[in-house]
Amino acid sequence: MMDNQKPLALVTGAARGIGQAIAARLGADGFEVIVLDRDGADAAAAAISGARGASVDLTNAKAVEALIAAERPLAALVNNAGIFDERAFFDLSLEDFRRMYEINLVALFALSQAAARRMEAGAKIVNIASRAFLGARNHAHYVASKAAVVGLTRAMAMELAPRGILVNAVAPGLVDTPLLQALTPERMAAQLALQPTGKAGRPEDIANAVAFLAAPRMDFITGQVLLVDGGKTLGGGLGL
Ligand SMILES: NC(=O)c1ccc[n+]([C@@H]2O[C@H](COP(=O)([O-])OP(=O)(O)OC[C@H]3O[C@@H](n4cnc5c(N)ncnc54)[C@H](O)[C@@H]3O)[C@@H](O)[C@H]2O)c1
Repeated sequence: MMDNQKPLALVTGAARGIGQAIAARLGADGFEVIVLDRDGADAAAAAISGARGASVDLTNAKAVEALIAAERPLAALVNNAGIFDERAFFDLSLEDFRRMYEINLVALFALSQAAARRMEAGAKIVNIASRAFLGARNHAHYVASKAAVVGLTRAMAMELAPRGILVNAVAPGLVDTPLLQALTPERMAAQLALQPTGKAGRPEDIANAVAFLAAPRMDFITGQVLLVDGGKTLGGGLGL
């Protein structure tokens, strides 16, 4: 890295929601940020000082390779892009399952592999999993894909540690973004009732955790899953 260059960060799915907040936070923390999304990347990047957009569909492996080849090595990669939908176990098709895996897991792997080949010691990868990796109703395909993200995070942490690359995951609980439009109002109310803190998180709450794990000064945490869920995993919302 040249002395006058900021460290370079790439955030996927950064045109809205959690990714947008992460990109803004990393920009404020001194990174040059690439805002990657299949829709709206340039408009979102325009709102962040020093950021630029990359209009890429992550399932397009050639476009992903070309993007990484054209950039200097990343100091931070945040794999945030993901999809979600609600479907009962017996209603899930193989196509539903494969599509979920293709975006939430396979695309994350492909980008991480391409980026990590060029990363220098000290680089960070942060994968956005979900608290749902522990288990949840009515989205088995999503739960399984996020559990796989956790497994992949741990495997990558082991294999990339000798190169000085640290890999962690953040597992958000309920966060107020457009993704939650897939939940009915009844399901949303039921979910909130299980929150010890009684509220959904904000995208900025996830960005805080990511900024900590992606920071150049962070040097001794790898293979971890940080739950950012307002305490839901404590089970206190059940009142027991
Ligand atoms: N919102 C929550 O409550 C919540 C909870 C746990 C985990 N998460 C995870 O956080 C991440 C972000 O969620 P969000 O709520 O901000 O979602 P969102 O739907 O608001 O934003 C996701 C972004 O990813 C982009 N994207 C999706 N597929 C893509 C592809 N193939 N190529 C390029 N871009 C693509 C979308 O265009 C969108 O801008 C996801 O991985 C999600 O699973 C969210």
